[in-house]
Amino acid sequence: MSKKLTIVTILALLGTIVISYFAFVKDYEPHQPIAFSHKIHSGVNEIPCTYCHAYVAKSSQPGIPSVMECMGCHKYVNAKYDPKDPKRIYKYNDESIDPTNYLYDGRKRINFENEIKKLTGYWERKEPIVWVNYHYVPEHAKFPHKPHIRYGLECKTCHGDVENVDIPKPQTTLQMGWCISCHEEKLQKKFDEFEKVHDGISKLSDHDKRIMSHTGRIQSRLLYKDFDRKLGDQHKLNTGKEKLININKEVAWLKDCSTCHY
Ligand code: HEC
Ligand code: HEC
Ligand code: HEC
Ligand code: HEC
Ligand code: HEC
Repeated sequence: MSKKLTIVTILALLGTIVISYFAFVKDYEPHQPIAFSHKIHSGVNEIPCTYCHAYVAKSSQPGIPSVMECMGCHKYVNAKYDPKDPKRIYKYNDESIDPTNYLYDGRKRINFENEIKKLTGYWERKEPIVWVNYHYVPEHAKFPHKPHIRYGLECKTCHGDVENVDIPKPQTTLQMGWCISCHEEKLQKKFDEFEKVHDGISKLSDHDKRIMSHTGRIQSRLLYKDFDRKLGDQHKLNTGKEKLININKEVAWLKDCSTCHY
């Protein structure tokens, strides 16, 4: 191949990369059918997360409100403002919010009244709103909200400061490593609690620790080489057999593949 041809090929390749970047990557972010703002609802108006995501502590899916539920408020709230009335502008934290000219998600000027009209349009047409979901855990893994909320984790831990953004975006790539590292951290916390009771835990080999964290149990013999002398009958069953110490039923299996994969 001649030198000239090689250069042309390289340029053409670069061109394709640049064009596809602008065509797909840059515009990859889909837009929502209505410029619904979390900041305006959860932040300014302090509507609790669970008012709209009612099933978050009860089911695997948090739930997204239906058009009817939105209309529960928007039959009355229509954001009709006179753009010349200076009183329309209100404060939130240090920001001045103009409902007739609000910069949505840092990239688009919107008028609340028009956006709410879109909502009433869906209501009148009896058409559901199809929201774009930015959060995605693939089919082969499962993420149930319920146990996480029940454990006491806040929405903020995984979703960040939702009440101060228009569109909540994933804080991480939601990859397996992220799930596992938190599960490991919680497991370590349990180990540390146990360490106070059974000081043998930190001296276990990695192999035994793994078994312990997978099964949730550890044989007293592994924990205390002199378990007979040290703990006596306390760690023996009536039959004289060695007792299994239950390190923690709830958290220990969090690293099992089958916890997240069917
Ligand atoms: C007035 C109702 C309402 C309230 C209050 C509300 N949400 Fe939402 N939420 C929605 C709607 C509607 C969607 C779908 C549209 C969207 O993604 O912006 C959504 C989507 C989300 C998503 C998924 C975003 C995506 O596109 O993947 C997360 C995460 C979320 N909400 C978290 C929260 C948290 C945390 C709070 C409390 C700080 C909260 N929401 C309060 C209505 C609400
Ligand atoms: C608990 C009452 C309540 C619920 C439920 C509610 N809203 Fe609102 N919404 C409000 C209030 C209050 C405002 C602020 C109006 C203003 O500032 O004048 C607002 C503002 C808006 C706006 C303009 C600001 C923005 O976010 O762009 C839109 C659009 C909107 N709501 C859509 C929705 C949709 C869609 C739903 C259902 C998913 C919904 N609302 C549910 C109370 C509610
Ligand atoms: C341990 C981390 C974690 C916590 C805590 C958490 N979430 Fe999520 N959330 C996720 C993950 C991961 C997804 C993506 C799930 C999927 O694709 O199935 C998600 C998705 C969502 C969605 C989008 C669901 C959909 O169907 O579009 C909403 C809404 C949501 N979370 C609300 C909340 C609220 C409200 C809270 C607090 C009460 C909360 N989350 C707490 C990790 C978390
Ligand atoms: C910030 C910490 C944290 C993150 C991040 C996290 N988890 Fe968890 N997860 C927990 C805790 C704590 C529990 C245990 C709750 C309990 O003791 O019942 C749990 C429990 C679970 C369970 C057990 C549910 C059951 O059957 O009871 C599954 C499945 C799960 N998580 C999946 C995931 C997946 C998938 C991800 C990533 C997409 C993830 N988790 C991310 C902290 C986290
Ligand atoms: C705490 C939850 C959790 C546990 C435990 C877990 N996984 Fe995963 N795994 C996930 C999630 C979430 C994904 C999807 C991640 C993504 O899309 O990047 C995943 C993806 C995968 C994939 C696909 C790889 C890929 O890049 O898409 C394989 C293979 C896998 N896991 C194997 C395992 C094996 C083997 C174990 C046990 C040693 C395990 N997982 C334990 C949550 C978990």
